[in-house]
Amino acid sequence: MAYSLFGLYTVDVMPDRKKIQQLNERREQAHLGGGIKRIERQHQGGKLTANERINALLDPGTFVEIDPFVVHRTVDFELQKFPGDGVITGYGKIYGRKVYVFAQDFTVYGGSLSESHAEKICKVMDLALKAGVPFIGLNDSGGARIQEGVVSLGGYADIFLRNVMVSGVIPQISAIMGPCAGGAVYSPAITDFVFMVRGSSTMYVTGPAVVKTVTHEDVSHEDLGGADVHASKSGVSHFVAEDDLDCIQQIRTMLTYLPSNNQTKPPMVKTDDPDDREDPLLDDIVPSDPIHPYDMKDIIHSVVDERLFFEVHQDFATNMVVGFARLGGRSVGVIGNQPASLAGVLDINASIKGARFVRFCDAFNIPLVTFEDVPGFLPGTDQEWNGIIKNGAKLLYAYAEATVPKLTVITRKAYGGAYDVMSSKHIRGDFNVAWPTAEIAVMGAQGAIEILYRHDIAGADDPEAMRQQRKDEYTEKFANPYKAAERGYVDDVIQPSKTRPYLIRALEMLESKRDSNPPKKHGNIPL
Ligand code: HXC
Repeated sequence: MAYSLFGLYTVDVMPDRKKIQQLNERREQAHLGGGIKRIERQHQGGKLTANERINALLDPGTFVEIDPFVVHRTVDFELQKFPGDGVITGYGKIYGRKVYVFAQDFTVYGGSLSESHAEKICKVMDLALKAGVPFIGLNDSGGARIQEGVVSLGGYADIFLRNVMVSGVIPQISAIMGPCAGGAVYSPAITDFVFMVRGSSTMYVTGPAVVKTVTHEDVSHEDLGGADVHASKSGVSHFVAEDDLDCIQQIRTMLTYLPSNNQTKPPMVKTDDPDDREDPLLDDIVPSDPIHPYDMKDIIHSVVDERLFFEVHQDFATNMVVGFARLGGRSVGVIGNQPASLAGVLDINASIKGARFVRFCDAFNIPLVTFEDVPGFLPGTDQEWNGIIKNGAKLLYAYAEATVPKLTVITRKAYGGAYDVMSSKHIRGDFNVAWPTAEIAVMGAQGAIEILYRHDIAGADDPEAMRQQRKDEYTEKFANPYKAAERGYVDDVIQPSKTRPYLIRALEMLESKRDSNPPKKHGNIPL
């Protein structure tokens, strides 16, 4: 269309429609990432694209993208510019609650991180912090953009710094949905929870080729840093998913237990499960033989709302059980010793697992409910040389510094130092109760009589009879909850079937709990 200006010139003015068309074309191009071929390759590998992942993660129609037109600024190489530069960022909702997200797009330079790519991630992290909403990263990347060199490394450091700054302020969740290699692993490692996908995700500091050169080990990608390895051996991954959609659904579910930030409480979720529901099966669940195992998860399922327990670190340090649940609609962090695995003993990995979970819950106002059946700390050179002392101390430290409501149910053994550690009254447990089957003592009968009566037994006419007699006396005197109850170290001894109503009433009572620690820059947890 031509307009005449003061009768002197005529100028062509592009109609707005054309500009809108251009905008739509640019947007469409951005959605194609690295192009159809690479998208097909992504699908062939059983992986969704970054777009598809974000659409599955967020409530339909809620995603608002930020920076779709950002491109790389690489100067040393002639590189095609793809709008978005290998990462999609923005915000949206999960079950109606706001979140910020990024999803790396492997179809653009293998999702590798350039300066621009890093800036996009930093921008949404800053926005998430200001808004006080959870931050979710879907990682699928070949690491630092090789063509950008040190600029890319700087980009990673900018992200790491933000991971640390927002830690404990907003929940940070990482899903590894492809490769995650080199220093890049340290961003997810700092975040609160890591999800991995079986068969398609890997995390390692150096890949199999470098491992072969340095240590001469032959190891596959999966065996070095696959989902199962990190979920069971290293504990780097908290959750394993079967595929991308399973991973995304697990993230959505987990978020329902969490508050948006450290200054709010988790959402109440209405339940039809009555607060006063009792479970008679619990009255018989603890075997009469103290060395006979049972599954602590049966107790947890029985007590919590609708039997729903969202277990964290399911395959790591299975002698300790941790996860999220609700009681009377309120989110709780559940920690339990697991008699069905290594007799529920506290070892290095169980202590680390428990400590990190307790600290997460404390940072985010999630009350702690501890189910205790612990014979003590695991003896042996392996444990001592690898630091059961400093690692066990982590769990003690975490429980002691926690100021959220703390409830403890001792179902059976609470022996030795482990009694103190597992949210005892002495380290600010709010309500601590025992079942009649509880044994709260320095140690079990067998160990105690061998120390106290070794000489008597050795000198007795009938050592076996003497041993049994002393054992019975000790059991009668100490293998019960009443010595602790006499002192007020447990607030009550309750019938197991009534555990759910007891805990729900206690949580209600603690709704307005206020407690704090002395002012300090930060404590010095034994790392
Ligand atoms: C630039 C990269 C890239 C990278 C992959 N690509 N990684 N481009 N920088 N880091 C590109 C490839 O050239 C290819 O481009 C496309 O992405 C897909 O890669 P493929 O190799 O074809 O895919 P695949 O066979 O699935 O293998 C994926 C991979 C492999 C295992 C991730 O690409 C790989 O080993 N990449 C390098 C990983 C790495 O060493 N990164 C640096 C780590 S150190 P075309 O055009 O062909 O599609 C690090 C330091 C971080 O990250 C430090 C933080 C402190």
